[in-house]
Amino acid sequence: MKKAELVIDKSFVVGDVDRRIYGSFIEHLGRAVYEGIYQPESPFADEQGLRKDTLELVKELKVPMVRYPGGNFVSGFYWEDSVGPKEERPARPELAWGVIETNQFGLNEFVDWAKKADTEVMMAVNLGTRGIDAARNLLEYCNFKGGTYYSDLRKKHGYEQPHNIKMWCLGNEMDGPWQIGHKTADEYGRIALETGRVMKLLDPSIELVACGSSNLWMPTFGEWEATTLDHCYDVVDYISLHQYYGNRSNDTKDFLAKNLGMDDFIKSVISICDYVKAKKHGKKNINLSFDEWNVWYHSGEQDRKIEKWSKAPHQLEDVYNFEDALLVGSMLITMLRHCDRVKCACLAQLVNVIAPIMTSDTGAWRQTIFYPYMHASVFGNGTVLNTIVKSPVYDSKSYTDVPYIDSVCIMNEETEELVIFAVNKDLEEDIELSCDLRQFADYGIVEHILLTHDDVKAENTEANPDNVAPVTCNHSKNDNGKFTALLKSKSWNVIRMKKIH
Ligand code: AHR
Repeated sequence: MKKAELVIDKSFVVGDVDRRIYGSFIEHLGRAVYEGIYQPESPFADEQGLRKDTLELVKELKVPMVRYPGGNFVSGFYWEDSVGPKEERPARPELAWGVIETNQFGLNEFVDWAKKADTEVMMAVNLGTRGIDAARNLLEYCNFKGGTYYSDLRKKHGYEQPHNIKMWCLGNEMDGPWQIGHKTADEYGRIALETGRVMKLLDPSIELVACGSSNLWMPTFGEWEATTLDHCYDVVDYISLHQYYGNRSNDTKDFLAKNLGMDDFIKSVISICDYVKAKKHGKKNINLSFDEWNVWYHSGEQDRKIEKWSKAPHQLEDVYNFEDALLVGSMLITMLRHCDRVKCACLAQLVNVIAPIMTSDTGAWRQTIFYPYMHASVFGNGTVLNTIVKSPVYDSKSYTDVPYIDSVCIMNEETEELVIFAVNKDLEEDIELSCDLRQFADYGIVEHILLTHDDVKAENTEANPDNVAPVTCNHSKNDNGKFTALLKSKSWNVIRMKKIH
């Protein structure tokens, strides 16, 4: 049997996990909002029209923060359309996705939904068709206590208390030629600086995210980050990264290696942030907000058939399979291993649109990717240990020396828990994992959660929602600090340990 080893020491830490690394994203796109989180006519709706079945699953995921309202959508959005009496809200052609936006669900309803979902709102402002003025008015509406035009308008709309939204995105994917109001890095850097400056004059407690590259393969990657930050370093706190992966060539080994690309992306962006900091003799680090990441490629064919100017069509409804869940697990591990700089991340998206949760008229169900995301969010809290993984490797079409095992250890001193997340990418063989856990010799195994399936293409559907689901197994032991675990071929593993008293 192949063998792999983890080397850890509790003094060698990467950093504390910022829970916002387990964030997600809801865009006015397809059925994410309408039918996903809001559907007044549904038997599952509460008194506000919010779907209770979706809320339950979102709470199960313990999502700390949800980015809203887009995405590409935000670059043509008039936030004023989405507040006030519903009968007075205009319907508009939504140009990013070619549909009609009715605005029957908007900013205040989303804040209400977020409260019920036990999550925070991360808000994006429109730097595509709009700019400083719209952004500062929106911030005043959301965060100003009262006694001013927009804060009093919020009160008039029934929201006496400010929403106190802390994290704000300065536009979305402004480097992308597809973006409404697409800009050069200089144009964007300037508008991000000036908008951010005004926003922080109004509310210095907010944190700002500048747009980085839409993906690692953008021709402007690198130069975009350097130029943008050269302009707005002083005012922003984070730079964004977006990355989606697919398996169009049906090469699972290559597909499962793609988090290596994500790792390169993160390392490169950290270097660029540090370069700008050094050049400016700056004091602060610019951290990373990986605010769109996922697998996205299954729905392409169906999306091409969508009727133009329809309302809430079935857009981007990827049905995820088991190999997607494995890559999502590896992507989570990759980000956690950089938790000293990746402070925020958003699985894109949350419901119906490239999402872990799907809904229909008969209820809501968990896609395969739900599980690694849920496990990481629920159990991945504490301090990430610098986890050296000594693993056998393989070569795939696009990557060499791909470790079969991806893993990270997280120690929680408060709860006296230790968790190991591990993916075995070997499609044929189980692998034995060992680790010298002498520093945790008095820790016993609480559970070993295993997600595996014989068929990497297995899916969870409305008809068969539990086809891919985790089980617990007894494949791990910690004998006085001698830790061993059997990692099944193609598997996601969560090994939870706790100090025995
Ligand atoms: O998440 C779907 C889309 O992907 C978002 O609207 C956009 O920001 C990205 O290109």
